[in-house]
Amino acid sequence: MSGSFIRERKRTHHCGQLRASDIGKRVVLFGWVQNYRDHGGAVFVDLRDKEGLTQVVFQPETCKSHELAGSLRHEWCIGISGEVVSRGGNANPRMATGEVEIQAEELTVFNKSETPPFEIADSVTTAESKRLAYRYLDLRRRPLQQTLITRSKMNTLVRNVLIERNFLELETPFIGKYTPGGARNFLVPSRLNAGKFYALAESPQLYKQLYMVAGFERYFQIVKCFRDEDLRLDRQPEFTQIDLEMSFVAEDDVFEVIEVLLATLWKEVLGVEIPRPFMRMDFDEAMSKYGNDKPDLRFDMPHVELTEVIRRFGPEGGIPLMWSAVKNGGIVKAMVIEGKHALSRADSDKLEAYVKTMGAQGLARAKVNEAGEWTQSPLAKNVSEGLRRAINEACGAKAGDVLAFQFGRAAQVHTVMANLRVFVAKRLGLIPEYGSGGDWKFLWVVNPPLFEFDETEKRWVAAHHAFTRPVDEHIELLETNPGLVKCHRYDVVLNGFEIGGGSIRLHNPEHQARVFHALGISEEEAQQKFGFLLDALKFGAPPHGGIALGMDRLTMLLTNAESLRDVISFPKTQNGSDLMSGAPTSVDGSQLSELNIRLLPVSSE
Ligand code: AMO
Repeated sequence: MSGSFIRERKRTHHCGQLRASDIGKRVVLFGWVQNYRDHGGAVFVDLRDKEGLTQVVFQPETCKSHELAGSLRHEWCIGISGEVVSRGGNANPRMATGEVEIQAEELTVFNKSETPPFEIADSVTTAESKRLAYRYLDLRRRPLQQTLITRSKMNTLVRNVLIERNFLELETPFIGKYTPGGARNFLVPSRLNAGKFYALAESPQLYKQLYMVAGFERYFQIVKCFRDEDLRLDRQPEFTQIDLEMSFVAEDDVFEVIEVLLATLWKEVLGVEIPRPFMRMDFDEAMSKYGNDKPDLRFDMPHVELTEVIRRFGPEGGIPLMWSAVKNGGIVKAMVIEGKHALSRADSDKLEAYVKTMGAQGLARAKVNEAGEWTQSPLAKNVSEGLRRAINEACGAKAGDVLAFQFGRAAQVHTVMANLRVFVAKRLGLIPEYGSGGDWKFLWVVNPPLFEFDETEKRWVAAHHAFTRPVDEHIELLETNPGLVKCHRYDVVLNGFEIGGGSIRLHNPEHQARVFHALGISEEEAQQKFGFLLDALKFGAPPHGGIALGMDRLTMLLTNAESLRDVISFPKTQNGSDLMSGAPTSVDGSQLSELNIRLLPVSSE
């Protein structure tokens, strides 16, 4: 019966399509039962497909299957045919199709449904774990469907923009050689090579560079990447990048393509014009003013560096804790919370409680009065007048403002103050609501250091990866002062999220060798780890560079989703499991022996 319905009746419309102008048409619709009501004789059904809802009426006089209609329940999958009629005075202005209904003539049930574990509605209070366990039902809900439809549109837009600019969509392997550095890799045992492992690609980085060596000049790929990282709201173990690489380019060329791409996405998805060129900020400035390299510029409240002021006053300044932090190589920063925000003492105590959750000892504070004196502060008693004035001046503090201080190890101070800035802005409502306009602050963060000092290993490590090109003027510092070497790396940031990052690559084998040397990687070791790329660079590699945008993060921002899980069809939870399939699972002993693997006892924790 249902088979012949499909063969004989072609769907004429989708469920969001019919309007008053269609009255009188005979139509065939397919979909799911959203709601049903039996009004003593007439059965009313809201029929749903991914495009919308249409009301269907089954009357005993006009519908052969009227009795069957009475048995319909939530989420049954059905097909109907009938005539579009006016709802007259019963029109529903909240439904796009609300002016009409279908007077059903035929009904076929393709499949009944068990009672769903939660209602298929726009907003549900069901726990996320249950929704993830039945993700295919969760994905029937309109907000998720719309997000995935947007995602599909984004894929098309990206392809159009890049193909128009002569990029080729080329593929790269997912299972490849394990290369150290960067994110932790997932390992894949090789059955055919006992005891050996592939790594799942954390990104196509090395291969896209090889495409440049091979002369393809412009590569892109919308590609899955795999990283065995600790997960957060904006991190998944399996995520998607819009990855590209270009030959014979400088930074500006990469920026131009990315700005066009992002502006197109914002225009086509949200109807928002993004001003170009995007703002650029030096990494050092971002760290100094905002404490991290992905500042949210929708609000101001910059940090003020006080290290030099404290150093200038020394012990005579009267704030011994700050002086000793500076003496021991640390830094001091302040942030001004303006008087107009009327921060109460209780509010400011909450800020202290917050910074303590990040391992800070506390949050020194001072309220500035009309005379520029400090009140409500343990610092007030001993601070010298000179230092107090100097700090007020550096901070531009006015009467009623609260100054919040942090001092100690630079990395810790930056992180605490960066998070505090966002926390305060959220509490004070300084961040514009989604969609209210003027709230898309795109930014390039440029010119970061090539190396970071690893405190645990007491050595220099690559801040991004070992193939980033140092700026020419700093090449000589590679041996003498690696910490000062800046490089051609860039991140594109939006509203506090790093949405993409890339670099101009090292294509000069001599400079590459010097970078490895600075990293303490011997020639032999480099050859063993990255040999194939290093060899390739010796064969006339063109100057090249590229970038990868985080597709999931972009979708999250474009759809105002709270987490990456809301924009990925089948995501993993915080501990990396898939609640629907149950992955990861144990496997048979025989499978393990085939792979030459023996398991250690697993601790029960
Ligand atoms: P990078 O590691 O900066 O660069 O990654 C690029 C962008 O990918 C997104 N991203 C993630 N999104 C979700 N979950 C994750 N676990 C995750 N990790 C990263 C971010 C990030 O900005 N090969 C280089 C690019 C290049 O140099 O061309 C790379 O992978 O938005």
